[in-house]
Amino acid sequence: MSSETMKAVRIHAFGGPEVLRYEDAPKPVVKPGEVLVRVHAAGINPPDWYLREGYRALPPEWRPQVAFPIILGTDISGVIEAVADDVTDFSVGDAVYSMVRFFSVGESRAYAEYVTVPASQVAPKPAGIDHVQAAAAPMSLLTAWQFMVALGHDEPNPLQPNRHAPVPLDGKTVLVNGAAGGVGHFAVQVAKLKGARVIAVASGRHEALLRELGADVFIDYNQTPPEEAARDIDLVVDALGGPTSARFLAVLKRGGALFPVFPLGFSGADEAERRGITVSATQVRSSGAQLADVGALLDAGTIRVIIDSTYPLADARKAHERAARGHIQGKIVLTVNA
Ligand SMILES: NC(=O)c1ccc[n+]([C@@H]2O[C@H](COP(=O)([O-])OP(=O)(O)OC[C@H]3O[C@@H](n4cnc5c(N)ncnc54)[C@H](OP(=O)(O)O)[C@@H]3O)[C@@H](O)[C@H]2O)c1
Repeated sequence: MSSETMKAVRIHAFGGPEVLRYEDAPKPVVKPGEVLVRVHAAGINPPDWYLREGYRALPPEWRPQVAFPIILGTDISGVIEAVADDVTDFSVGDAVYSMVRFFSVGESRAYAEYVTVPASQVAPKPAGIDHVQAAAAPMSLLTAWQFMVALGHDEPNPLQPNRHAPVPLDGKTVLVNGAAGGVGHFAVQVAKLKGARVIAVASGRHEALLRELGADVFIDYNQTPPEEAARDIDLVVDALGGPTSARFLAVLKRGGALFPVFPLGFSGADEAERRGITVSATQVRSSGAQLADVGALLDAGTIRVIIDSTYPLADARKAHERAARGHIQGKIVLTVNA
């Protein structure tokens, strides 16, 4: 392979996992403000398959226009191979992790041997975890953090006119739905870390793990509908979201809050107002500064990263097929240059 090409997973058209092609692509070159990272692992996230499918769930006028081919993916861990002249915070050889250029559709390009990243979106890789675990964390953990602890950015919110605001967690009861998935397993740990009593909702096979991660109460949604089993909750983080989120309004206290992580299709605005409940969402945004903050918690093992499965970069298609089967426990990660 010449020094100007690399292996990457690209799509040339929208579609199912079969459109993912492992092939040669131009090796990116750093621009001012950027670093070039040799990728060791790339985490996968729902926006990867939403983009692969052409964001079919969005109204046609919202669907992104992209110039094919594009390289999917946002989350990486690796080692810096080059830095632009104006970058002073990082050096060649530094191990780093990042959520790359989110939300900038088609510009993230993480499923590859190399990716360029704005230095402001990079943080030192937590030394206490490996590249697979570090690549698994960025989007899911930043989502939990920006919903629950600190929004940490002033980007416009495409999901609602008002700025999302986290709520106090200390001494509160927090229910996390979809608790075993990427966002959910971090939301459970963040709520616990911030002093909440945590109720985790997931399918039964995740109970032991979620209790280990700090859940005080576990509800198997296949046995008991959570809206019947819980009451007087201060905050519901619905990491499943969508049209079924409104059922959680019934479990919340007056003055409580519902954070649907996937808010499209939410239909309970009138009921929420009647019940005195705040419903709020945000869209996660890249932040090297926040990755440095949460990196200290990952490094210390205060927040753990759970790996569902790993696949070599060349098998990205299999990784997306695994994701489509659902019931993910933690994160799916692609290994690169392993
Ligand atoms: N707002 C943002 O910026 C943002 C950022 C990241 C993700 N998201 C959205 O957040 C959602 C979750 O993302 P993710 O990465 O955490 O997905 P994920 O890893 O696929 O996790 C989803 C979890 O939901 C569980 N689940 C499925 N059906 C359920 C049900 N009926 N009740 C309770 N749990 C159920 C699944 O396992 P079990 O069924 O086995 O329990 C799985 O663990 C996605 O819709 C994603 O698009 C939004």
